[in-house]
Amino acid sequence: MTLLSDEHLSGASESGFPQFAAPARVNLIGEHTDYTGGFVMPMAIPFSTVAQLHPATDGQYAFSSERFSATRSMGPEDRSPRVGDWSDYPVGVLRELQERGLQIPPFALHLSGDVPLGSGLSSSASVEVATAIALLSHAQATLPAGVIAKLCQSAENNYVGSPCGIMDQFVVTAATADHALLLNTRDLTYELLPMNTGGLADCRIVIANSGVKHSIAGGDYGLRRREVEAGQAKMRDRFPEARDLGDASLQQLAACEDEMSPESFRRCRHIITENQRVREAREAMLTGDPERLGAVMTEAHASERDDFECSIDEIDFLVDTAVVLRGCYGARLTGGGFGGCTVNLVNSPHVDEFAAALSSAYRGRFSLQLETYVCAAVDGALARTAAQLKGNVPEVR
Ligand code: GLA
Repeated sequence: MTLLSDEHLSGASESGFPQFAAPARVNLIGEHTDYTGGFVMPMAIPFSTVAQLHPATDGQYAFSSERFSATRSMGPEDRSPRVGDWSDYPVGVLRELQERGLQIPPFALHLSGDVPLGSGLSSSASVEVATAIALLSHAQATLPAGVIAKLCQSAENNYVGSPCGIMDQFVVTAATADHALLLNTRDLTYELLPMNTGGLADCRIVIANSGVKHSIAGGDYGLRRREVEAGQAKMRDRFPEARDLGDASLQQLAACEDEMSPESFRRCRHIITENQRVREAREAMLTGDPERLGAVMTEAHASERDDFECSIDEIDFLVDTAVVLRGCYGARLTGGGFGGCTVNLVNSPHVDEFAAALSSAYRGRFSLQLETYVCAAVDGALARTAAQLKGNVPEVR
């Protein structure tokens, strides 16, 4: 079991060049609702990507990483397509900033970090946002959180070719320590929900990493998204007042059942009920009710498993095992699915025995090593770099 602490703060590196840190995230509830105008409730967690930036004298943009051996270098006019490795994420961010007219002086960008890769904890968004903030600072520019999040999402959608929503980039940018962030993905308005109200003060968020790799760029996420969008289009034809699934009701869905595939129907049902569960989770957060929050998390898992069909046997086993362990209020698959992690709400005194029992059961069933992380909610990238970004710098429009 790893107890994560928030030790990766932005600031000057040993070499004296500035560095910018962006966290990872875990989503407490609201899954696959962020590309249909719905609600999500993630929090930032203390894994991070650190972007260190040196001005360059050779007129080039250079990218390197502590975690991957391939490096990449290009001139300011370069518009070459993706190459299919890690560098596509920071290069995609560079492209988005260039398209917005930002003049960026030559640089060497070096990325390091400890976000588990392919685990559904948003290693990609962490890289994108750390890069964006480093490049903005280098160009002496600032942008509002929502614009940074959107350009990082665009980098992933347009350059990397991965059809993600806005949740990860937004929370990684805008999160506040000790709070979950309830985001309305239609208009990017958000509410910060304290993590320590009432009985929640005695709870911990425990993430269990199945070790089964998940990728948004893999086909399953895109297929689900197309199934959802096909169903949403049918509903819009019939009920134009429902702008997207964030507005739609189960009654409206039932009225359109015959017009869509059974898959689209079930995917849309997951999303409509999930939006309702996020509202319930908000109430539970505000009243400090871990039983209610845990119950709605576990219900959300059943919907991801049965209606959205984005779970796998290993994850279902982790959830089913967790929810009957002492001290566990609720558990669910977190993130895009098809592997990755579960998120568990656990009573503090039971955290150690919970993690040990879950790991032992998992090893017994799948002969796989479970990693568990006990996390507090930490600041997003903007709060971490606020001191560095303060000052009289021009806005990019
Ligand atoms: C991934 C995507 C997000 C979101 C989740 C599912 O994390 O990057 O945009 O769609 O899956 O909720």
